Amino acid sequence: MTIVVTGATGNVGRPLVAALAAAGAPVRAVTRAPRTAGLPAGVEPVGSAAEALPGASAVFLNSRALGDDLESVVARCVRGGVRKLVALSAINADDDFARQPSRFRGDRNKEVEQVVVDSGVAWVSLRPTVFATNFAGMWSPQIRAGDAVFGPYARASTAPIVETDIAQVAARALLTDELVGQRIPLTGPQAFTNAELVETIGAVLDRPLQYREIPNAAVRQRFLGLGFTADFADAYIAMLAATLDAPALVTHDVEKVLGRPAVPFAQWVAEHRDVFARAT
Ligand SMILES: NC(=O)c1ccc[n+]([C@@H]2O[C@H](COP(=O)([O-])OP(=O)(O)OC[C@H]3O[C@@H](n4cnc5c(N)ncnc54)[C@H](OP(=O)(O)O)[C@@H]3O)[C@@H](O)[C@H]2O)c1
Repeated sequence: MTIVVTGATGNVGRPLVAALAAAGAPVRAVTRAPRTAGLPAGVEPVGSAAEALPGASAVFLNSRALGDDLESVVARCVRGGVRKLVALSAINADDDFARQPSRFRGDRNKEVEQVVVDSGVAWVSLRPTVFATNFAGMWSPQIRAGDAVFGPYARASTAPIVETDIAQVAARALLTDELVGQRIPLTGPQAFTNAELVETIGAVLDRPLQYREIPNAAVRQRFLGLGFTADFADAYIAMLAATLDAPALVTHDVEKVLGRPAVPFAQWVAEHRDVFARAT
């Protein structure tokens, strides 16, 4: 029962590969750098999805990693007799693309779900919300440098999910048939405003951190400085603007699937405190 994981060195892929290997499943991990991927013992690193597919029974599809090869890889899966496809989609996959920043970096979360649903093969689509690790990427340079985090909309709301929870649900989807035919919206256990997220990080680090709302034009400049496009920045701002009037949706699907609550954001911060630690 060989399982192929695309995007295997990524935020979701790495803990997923570890979970599958720990469960004793034979795993082929797709990475552009198979020699240096640093995967667990027993996992077979492979340089392309095409190379990994022969004999596979289940495949995890990450549209960022697959890029333009998504459709051809799924067609190969169908021809090759793969029995199950698990898509990494997103909770906002059906929203207006103008409010999906990931579209502007090439992700195709709507398409990856549609292609597995249409494949004729047993499928599961995972629809996570914002990953906890995004806040490390967006905020840790500011938190390492001082006590203020500058960004859009202090009242914007999210319910961040830790990547290991997504990976554990994905492992269940790949290893069992319990979730077949489901689109599963995955969130963390609690909704927070941006201001509350920064307070939570501050409480864990025992520092007086504060969120400071800045105008959208300044947000756009910051994203451009980080190498993102203006379209990405505008979609990010629009996505947050849509959350100002109500707390973000919290689903309990992680708990339903895994039989234990989703990991709280504060626990994730505590486990990643080095990422936010002040430069000495
Ligand atoms: N971040 C969020 O908040 C969020 C929320 C919901 C859904 N999603 C969706 O989740 C997916 C991303 O998952 P992830 O964070 O686990 O992925 P990731 O860590 O960004 O990337 C997974 C792996 O894919 C390869 N890769 C990355 N960029 C690539 C590119 N441009 N071309 C080819 N290969 C590339 C890299 O592996 P190698 O270098 O080893 O080849 C990387 O380790 C996207 O579809 C995203 O929209 C994200």
